[in-house]
Amino acid sequence: MYGVYIKGVLLFVYIFVVCGILYCNHVAQRFSLLNKMFSRGFSPSAINTDMISKIFVINSTSAKRIESMSYHRFIVEENNNLNQTSMGRNSTYEQSTSNALESVTMKTVELPTSSTTTKSKFLLCTGTMGRLGNHLFEFASGYGIAARKDMLSVIRQKGLVDSIFELKNDSRLLLLPDLKECKTVPKRFERWCSRYDPRLENFTVNSNLWIGWGLQSWKYFNDSYRELREQLTFRKHIRDKVVSIQEGILKKFNFTSRSDVTFIGVHIRRGDMLTDPLGYDVATPEYLSRAVMFFQNYSNTVFTVCTLDLEWSKQYMPKNIKVEFIVGNSPEVDMALLAFSDHVIQTVGTFSWWSSWLNNGTVIYYKWPAKEGGKLRKTFSADYSDYFLPHWIGM
Ligand SMILES: *[C@@H]1O[C@H](CO)[C@@H](O)[C@H](O)[C@H]1NC(C)=O
Ligand SMILES: *[C@@H]1O[C@H](CO)[C@@H](O)[C@H](O)[C@H]1NC(C)=O
Ligand SMILES: *[C@@H]1O[C@H](CO)[C@@H](O)[C@H](O)[C@H]1NC(C)=O
Ligand SMILES: *[C@@H]1O[C@H](CO)[C@@H](O)[C@H](O)[C@H]1NC(C)=O
Ligand SMILES: *[C@@H]1O[C@H](CO)[C@@H](O)[C@H](O)[C@H]1NC(C)=O
Ligand SMILES: *[C@@H]1O[C@H](CO)[C@@H](O)[C@H](O)[C@H]1NC(C)=O
Ligand SMILES: *[C@@H]1O[C@H](CO)[C@@H](O)[C@H](O)[C@H]1NC(C)=O
Ligand SMILES: *[C@@H]1O[C@H](CO)[C@@H](O)[C@H](O)[C@H]1NC(C)=O
Ligand SMILES: *[C@@H]1O[C@H](CO)[C@@H](O)[C@H](O)[C@H]1NC(C)=O
Repeated sequence: MYGVYIKGVLLFVYIFVVCGILYCNHVAQRFSLLNKMFSRGFSPSAINTDMISKIFVINSTSAKRIESMSYHRFIVEENNNLNQTSMGRNSTYEQSTSNALESVTMKTVELPTSSTTTKSKFLLCTGTMGRLGNHLFEFASGYGIAARKDMLSVIRQKGLVDSIFELKNDSRLLLLPDLKECKTVPKRFERWCSRYDPRLENFTVNSNLWIGWGLQSWKYFNDSYRELREQLTFRKHIRDKVVSIQEGILKKFNFTSRSDVTFIGVHIRRGDMLTDPLGYDVATPEYLSRAVMFFQNYSNTVFTVCTLDLEWSKQYMPKNIKVEFIVGNSPEVDMALLAFSDHVIQTVGTFSWWSSWLNNGTVIYYKWPAKEGGKLRKTFSADYSDYFLPHWIGM
């Protein structure tokens, strides 16, 4: 109950600050989207310029201001004290904002400990922020942590993940038509969104709980690998679409059967990350060449490229190989096409990551997804090992 008020106050502080920065005239009519976004917190990887510009008409300077604000994060300690991470302290937003937020958050020391649930297991909720790749991290980490803590992770029935994958209720997962159970529960926050945070999992299970925000580490869910692979089965209409796309490519290159060809799925993400002030980096042409070269001794390779930057990709995909550029499909079809390739070359971003995780073959990844010294870099562990899987090949 108390939590709702705190959330409201926090939300208003955020909105007040954002409006101040943007001199924004359109908040009222866009309030509902903003509310959705803010009430679930920020993750720098989820909130990019692209997404923010859907809410505000902004230029890159004001986008930068917002994004640095998004770095303000605090964590719920085991003893229920709220604290800021060191990341927040050195970011560029105004100190007054920081103080305001701090004074508000400090009042939330008493967390609601409602345990009115009649279920045999406590529920574990996660956010649903950003796009498909972000949702998958939230889902998988919620699932993995629920399994370890003997809780039930919850996800919205017919929500984004459920609409793409054949999710089923099991001993760790509960599909619910709405997530009202998650609205008033205590929250725990990770310290870094792309790094494993053992403190996030260090809690005693005595109520329903919400965890966030990014949860972008395989270490939260690898011990539920098999169960998750089963849960994350693409729905039939998506699998059928992939088969028909692959058949078209076979025909084009005069192959008679799927087993005659080695599909190397290539995902090239650039676009939004080029202008991102947090310090995203994008894969270079040299990386693409090295990655393609890795597969030079594989027989009958066809590289299928999924990208939103066709022009760049056409220019820099190495020549003298069989390449098919795949355009115009939904993100989930692109992801499935990459997943059902024999091997994957990823570039940057969570979409690339999940396309690779779902793939059964060799995965090549770009080792420098964040600019050294940039804000984003700090959200990863020093060697990126919490983010990239150990058996993937970085170059
Ligand atoms: C962007 O917005 C800031 C703050 O409103 C303003 O000072 C700056 O001139 C704008 N830049 C451009 C390129 O419009
Ligand atoms: C917050 O964290 C800092 C640095 O880790 C620590 O010195 C401080 O005591 C903490 N504050 C609270 C209220 O736990
Ligand atoms: C980071 O924050 C600490 C503690 O507030 C401060 O001592 C240090 O000078 C800051 N560093 C930068 C680069 O702002
Ligand atoms: C999962 O269980 C919930 C709660 O019993 C139920 O409402 C929902 O329909 C079930 N979903 C599926 C896909 O079985
Ligand atoms: C978990 O929390 C307890 C109590 O605060 C602490 O003693 C312990 O060291 C923590 N463990 C880890 C792995 O952080
Ligand atoms: C992750 O889980 C899979 C399946 O259980 C296992 O084969 C693999 O070794 C695990 N990876 C790590 C690094 O623990
Ligand atoms: C496929 O075969 C047809 C007919 O033999 C030929 O015209 C075409 O050039 C071939 N295409 C490729 C990509 O080899
Ligand atoms: C591919 O095969 C050639 C000739 O056998 C060999 O020299 C080269 O090292 C191989 N390349 C890779 C990446 O394995
Ligand atoms: C990966 O392999 C498993 C087991 O062989 C299979 O069921 C699954 O469909 C494969 N997934 C993909 C994306 O190829």
